[in-house]
Amino acid sequence: MPDPFEGFADQLVAWQKQHGRNDLPWQNTRDPYKVWLSEIMLQQTQVATVKGYFARFLARFPDVASLANGTQDEVMGLWSGLGYYSRARNLHLCAKQILALYEGKFPSDAQTLEALPGIGRSTASAISSICFGERVAILDANVKRVVARVRGFDKDLALSANEKIMWQLATELIPAKGATQETMARYTQGMMDLGAGVCSPKKPQCLLCPVAPMCIARDGGDPQRYPVRTRKLKRSSQSLWLLEARCSNGDVWLSKRPVPGVWAGLHCLPLFDSEEALRAVVPQHLQNSLVCQAPFVHVLTHKDLHLHPWRLELDDPQLQWSKGRWVGGDEWLALGLPAPVRKLLERD
Ligand code: ADE
Repeated sequence: MPDPFEGFADQLVAWQKQHGRNDLPWQNTRDPYKVWLSEIMLQQTQVATVKGYFARFLARFPDVASLANGTQDEVMGLWSGLGYYSRARNLHLCAKQILALYEGKFPSDAQTLEALPGIGRSTASAISSICFGERVAILDANVKRVVARVRGFDKDLALSANEKIMWQLATELIPAKGATQETMARYTQGMMDLGAGVCSPKKPQCLLCPVAPMCIARDGGDPQRYPVRTRKLKRSSQSLWLLEARCSNGDVWLSKRPVPGVWAGLHCLPLFDSEEALRAVVPQHLQNSLVCQAPFVHVLTHKDLHLHPWRLELDDPQLQWSKGRWVGGDEWLALGLPAPVRKLLERD
């Protein structure tokens, strides 16, 4: 039987060359350190936001050895504001492992890369195909949409058995044996580019798509129907009270959040589950100095945080709590802080 998807990879690669993104700061390099860093940053964050973080990170940590030898606080500081901080912790761990296990040289195959902290199957394949030309498929959320539509795969992707089939379908589409490193890099980038632009969730622009003639979803007339996923994210909400203790010299009291939990590993204002719990750590004679600030909501992936900041102005840093320390304004600016805490502190 003739392969209905013959020519898919060739069409995609030719389209990528002409219409894809070719001037992003992490492109036109085969340096796996840069590709890895960009892929981790891009996992949950828009390209426009990543550009600045990527440049600052590289300026401070130009290679895997410098990152492995950096402090966790400095890594978290450079990540501050990007969110999903487990990415930064794993990045640091991963750099240390690459130094310890591979003398600072990235493994060149996806299977070995996938065993490292923070590198999932799709990221491993992105690195090995872009940098080393390995013939492996990627499958991030955008690419899943492209593959589900082209292949007309309408099974529920919430089920891991169906996800496994998707990997097989994606692998069947990659360039044929003998493909060069450049072809594999373009193919991987092309799948991402198609998913991020033309093959959008709500309004796919099939007229601009290089593989429309072989797309089963388009042929069916309703490409938006794909991919199918039943499970909805269950959202929850949590209320937290923050103690913003400020000293007249500008110092603020910060403590490191425990792992696991909300904002694990970041420096943070002390958090409490209720106003009573917050008041319980403030001495009696200072209770009247506590000033309620405007509460606000901070949205995380699975959770809405209802934040209630209370401010406490002190004349001198005599007062100490059991965990944490007084941190000067020149220092906390560079620390890893949760975005809403940074906003609170910068406001004053
Ligand atoms: N998202 C994930 N990886 C990407 C890449 N290499 N280029 C653009 N967006 C991406």
